[in-house]
Amino acid sequence: MQISTELSTSLVDDARLAEILANPGFGVHFTDHMLTAEWTPDAGWHDARITPYGPLTLDPATAVLHYAQETFEGMKAYRHADGSIWSFRPEANAARMVRSSHRLALPVLDTDDFVQAVHTLVEVDRRWVPDNTGEGEKSLYIRPFMFASEAFLGVRPAQHVTFMVICSPAGAYFKGGVKPVTLWLTEEYTRAARGGMGAAKTGGNYASSLVAQQEAMAEGCDQVVFLDAQEGRYVEELGGMNMYFVFDDGSIVTPETGTILEGITRSSIIELAGKMGHQVTERKFGIDEWRDGVTSGRITEIFACGTAAVVTPVGSLKWQGGEVPAPASTELTTKIRQALVDVQFGRAEDTFGWMRRIC
Ligand code: PLP
Ligand code: COI
Repeated sequence: MQISTELSTSLVDDARLAEILANPGFGVHFTDHMLTAEWTPDAGWHDARITPYGPLTLDPATAVLHYAQETFEGMKAYRHADGSIWSFRPEANAARMVRSSHRLALPVLDTDDFVQAVHTLVEVDRRWVPDNTGEGEKSLYIRPFMFASEAFLGVRPAQHVTFMVICSPAGAYFKGGVKPVTLWLTEEYTRAARGGMGAAKTGGNYASSLVAQQEAMAEGCDQVVFLDAQEGRYVEELGGMNMYFVFDDGSIVTPETGTILEGITRSSIIELAGKMGHQVTERKFGIDEWRDGVTSGRITEIFACGTAAVVTPVGSLKWQGGEVPAPASTELTTKIRQALVDVQFGRAEDTFGWMRRIC
């Protein structure tokens, strides 16, 4: 893919950048540049360009604003101790965007073009990749997204699609760093049904999760847990993370794919935990198994994982009229989190070949 570059003439100055990188938060600051490419049926992908970061001008009839035809990705760039910058399994994000785009009737962006677009933008904005010093693992969060940019109110796949990449320096996703998140079990709302969009990374899934998330917060919980739409019995995932259950014999269970998002952190943990000698099973996992397992002590740890939140221990679970306390331990959760971030930050050997050098 040909990518043109127009550098910003009003870069964030060094002093302000240092201030931002010292305490980046999540998703609130954006780098100096963005990448944009256009697609039409005749020309395919074209006009890929890096330009100064700034607002878009959209026709009010732009299809995505009405029918939500869009997909997105979430990934990170990590600065290693020698100053080099790396991405983590970017081809997996590219492949997932192709699967999501297929579900949303959006065009395919080839893996090579996706990775080139992400890497080129990160290289241009490399001074925004935080040094990994101090508390927490800081990185540059990367948000590729694709949307129906045709101005047309008919309901059909758009004939003009825009792909963009923006980047945002990131600290801890949860305020207060790594501590157990408390969960609210929604019995009213589901996020995905068979044949629906649950496995696609598309805005509508997040829009539909918000009312349940609001309920969770009103109940004093951090995050919401969704159950399957058919029986209301099996644990699916959180609003933005996959789930893992650790048993007292060292075995681990994670809900099977189909209606959940196929997390790249999730699949990496399957490999990492396997290498640590744990038996990992992907299967349906009932909510009663959660309740009984924690109560009896058979389940010793529960954790959630995702690019933004990394690996986070799960504490208590509440629902209308009931509660299960936090599992007894967070030991393996901490070990798995450490093993993963050590590879990402170049402190451990990359035995799975996951890391890609950007610059
Ligand atoms: N599930 C949902 C609904 C998500 O939004 C995310 C975050 O991207 C995940 C799971 C975890 O996916 P990944 O590990 O690829 O970030
Ligand atoms: C990610 O982990 O990358 C996500 O997209 C999740 C989102 C809730 C920030």
